[in-house]
Order: sequence, then structure tokens, then C-alpha cells
Amino acid sequence: MFLPPIQSSSTLFLFLSLFIAFPFIDSSPLPRPGLDLRQVVDCNDLEASFDSSCWNTLNLGRYLDDPETGWSRTAAICIGDEDDAACCLPTEPWTTCYLRLAHGFPGTDCSEINAQDCSYDPALAVDPRIAPYVAYTMKTIYAINDLFTTWYNALQYAASQALSIVQDVINQVDPPQQTNFILRDLLFALTVGLAYVVAPEAGSLTGLLVATATAGRALLKGANQAPTVARGIWPAGTESSQSIQIGDLEIELNNATGITAIMLNSGLELLMNDMPSFVEFASTGMFSGSDSFSLSKEVDGLDVALKTFIVSNAMTSNGWHYTVNLGATRDDIASCVPGSGGSCCTWWALNSPSSNPSMCGDFIWYSDTTMRAFTLTNPNVMNGTVEMLNAIVENEWTTLPLLFDGAYNCSAAGNFGGAPIQIEADGTIDLSCMSQLAEGPSLSKK
Ligand SMILES: *[C@@H]1O[C@H](CO)[C@@H](O)[C@H](O)[C@H]1NC(C)=O
Ligand SMILES: *[C@@H]1O[C@H](CO)[C@@H](O)[C@H](O)[C@H]1NC(C)=O
Ligand SMILES: *[C@@H]1O[C@H](CO)[C@@H](O)[C@H](O)[C@H]1NC(C)=O
Repeated sequence: MFLPPIQSSSTLFLFLSLFIAFPFIDSSPLPRPGLDLRQVVDCNDLEASFDSSCWNTLNLGRYLDDPETGWSRTAAICIGDEDDAACCLPTEPWTTCYLRLAHGFPGTDCSEINAQDCSYDPALAVDPRIAPYVAYTMKTIYAINDLFTTWYNALQYAASQALSIVQDVINQVDPPQQTNFILRDLLFALTVGLAYVVAPEAGSLTGLLVATATAGRALLKGANQAPTVARGIWPAGTESSQSIQIGDLEIELNNATGITAIMLNSGLELLMNDMPSFVEFASTGMFSGSDSFSLSKEVDGLDVALKTFIVSNAMTSNGWHYTVNLGATRDDIASCVPGSGGSCCTWWALNSPSSNPSMCGDFIWYSDTTMRAFTLTNPNVMNGTVEMLNAIVENEWTTLPLLFDGAYNCSAAGNFGGAPIQIEADGTIDLSCMSQLAEGPSLSKK
């Protein structure tokens, strides 16, 4: 899978084959820079900063993949031991070939995570007339590789953060250690973190998380355009269906980071080898602008999906479930407490129960987003709801909207009990099943 960089001694006239796409460009006259005052962004100005609108302005999708004149259709394939100077090797990813021809020398490769030499280099060995097209294509290739590579590296830290809560979850929720996970589901929950932080329910986005959310948004939008890529990263059936006991999570998930590399790499490989997938994924233009999708190695928050998944599973396995009351206003709920004419107990925020826990048992938490009132309950644990709600919030195991609204959304969509992420036909990624908290008294999972 990991292709070595292409070695070639001949670097003469490498640029020639990039001209193959030239007839298409020539047929639509290049805009004349500076003549149109309304033109704020000049996509042909190599000195200007990259702008995401240029993917469309330059019609890069057509430049790359037009059925007749697109680069992918016209690039020559090397036959036999023919000099590979102006052609692509039969097994060479198109992006590797493209970068080789654009630079005029081999060695740049962006087709894998942590590829040996993948960094944007503005030096171009091409005709100035096609230089903007080539520069934008190269920039897009680099930005997508950068997202996948830094995402993978950030996952190491996210996994260790998520695993650091496991002992506390065992102590508080699952002393008998009876929760089991399917490895594949854990891997979904881990890798999907990038997309998950986009959810407003994940909490207020500050600092690094803002950058992460930007990357997650770009990823989701790209995947929306190119469902094959989403399926490449999160295949429907993987061999990793082994069952993992909660006490073994640490060993297993540390070991599994190798598998996450394979998952992310298969998505990236698809992009870098399959032109239509690349064009679809990049068609939002987000990867062609000046935004960076580099993730820092240590991003707090990238682990929230995995934590939500672990905690909610442990809760359900130990008898916790919720019941829901739809359509009540915040005032309705506030007025149901004793003293306001009712007898219910509410919990609004950390250490803020409306009533003495010993008088209540179950507590209601109200979701302002969805106007749903959730009651958390467990037939085996009397008086314990407040402690549980406090522990979840205080330890940042997850957020209550993600836990309750997510679980409800998952059930409402008929997906409860299934995989934690659902990839819809249109590429939309549904993350609500990351919460596996069961609804109703009788729904306790095995
Ligand atoms: C780690 O993964 C490898 C390959 O998937 C497997 O052979 C090995 O048993 C795993 N180690 C542990 C401790 O589970
Ligand atoms: C719940 O609280 C009441 C009143 O303090 C107490 O008598 C009872 O033992 C508690 N139940 C449990 C299971 O802790
Ligand atoms: C659940 O669905 C509602 C819309 O019905 C949405 O507003 C909310 O953000 C969703 N929450 C989660 C966590 O999926």
C-alpha cells in the first residue's frame, strides 16, 4: 500500500504532458487580470493568496476530470520501459504523477498519511498560462493530505485522553466491568471525533477547537460530495468485529491506533488515486483556499465522540436509561418542582438539583435545543441520578445534549442498537448514535 517515491533520472521536458489539458483551457479565454474592477479575487495571479472561490472560477473539476479534455483522460500512460518523463506509470497514483510533472522532477508524494515528501512548493516547471491551474491543483492535493495526516497524528492524543477516563467510568458506572464493545465501533467513535466537534452540542468552541471544527466541517462537506470517500474511511464491514471488555479498552485501543491509520489511509489513498473522488471531495473549494486544515497534535475535544460512546454504553449496560417528555417549555419543567406546584425533581447544571436527592431518585434534565425533558433513571440505583449527572458534567465524560438528545435522535431514526455512525446515501454522516443510552425501562442492552 505504501508506494515508494517514484525515482527517475530524466527530468527534461517533464512539464510537457501537463499541456495535454491545454486545449480545454485555450478554448475558454483566460480572464484578463486587472481589467474588471468587480473582480476582487484574481485566480490567475500567482502572487495573490489562494482563494477557495477559485476552484469554481478556474473550473478545476473540468480541468482535471472533463470526460474528453480533462487531465486524467489525456495524461499519457507510460508503456513498458518507456521513459516516464512525460507520462504516468501504470501503478502511480495520479497525484504523484501530477506533482512529478508539475515540479519537473520526481520525489514528491502525497498519496499516503505521513508521506515522505508532501509539502506545498510553489516552484512550477510549467507554462505560465496553465500555472494557476497547476498551482491550485497542487495546493488542493497538499491541503487534503495535510488534513488526513494531522488528523491521524492528533488521534493518538485523542485516544489517550479518552482512555484516561475509563477507570473512573468503571468505578462509578460499571464496577462489575460488564460493558463490552465491538472494536470496529470504537474505531468509528474515535476517528469520527473530527466531525463530531462540529456539532454545536459539543460545547463552546474555543482556541484549538475552532481550528478543529473548521477541519471537521471541511471533512464533512467533502464527504458529503464524495460518499465513496466516507465509505473508504469507515467501511461498512471490517474484519475488526472482535468484542472488547471495558477493562481491556486501554490495551486494545492503544493497539488499535495502527488500524485507525489504515482506515484514514484508505480514505486518503482513494482520493489520491481516484480522480472522480478527488474532484467530488474538493469541489467545495474549501481545500483550495488559504485556510489551513492542519490539526495540532494535541487537540482537546477530539475525543468527545469516543468518550460519549464509552460512557453511554457503560450506562446502558448497567441499567441506566432515560424517559422523555416532548414539547414542554423550560417554564413547564421549572414549575413542576415542589413549591411551584409539582412534585418532580430537576437538574439544570452541575451541583444544582432542585430538591434533596434523597427525596427524589430520578431527576429531569431539560434540553433547550430540542424542548425535550429527559428523566434519567436506573432501577438498580436509588437516589443516584444526581451523582451520575454531576459526574458526567464534572468529569467532562460527555455533554448532556450529546448524551440525551443524541440517544433520542438515534432511536427516532430507527438506528438504536446499530453502528455508532451512519453514512447516508448522500454522504451525510449521522453521529447521533454515538450516544448509546437506552430509552425506556425495558430497553436495557443485553
Ligand atoms: C495488536 O494487533 C495485532 C494485529 O492486529 C494483533 O495480532 C495483536 O494480538 C494485538 N495485540 C493485542 C495486545 O491485542
Ligand atoms: C435514598 O435516600 C433515602 C433518604 O435519605 C434513604 O433512606 C435510602 O436508603 C436511600 N436509598 C439508597 C438506595 O441509597
Ligand atoms: C437531535 O436532533 C435535533 C433536531 O431534531 C437537533 O436540533 C439536535 O441538534 C440533535 N442533537 C444531536 C446530539 O444529535
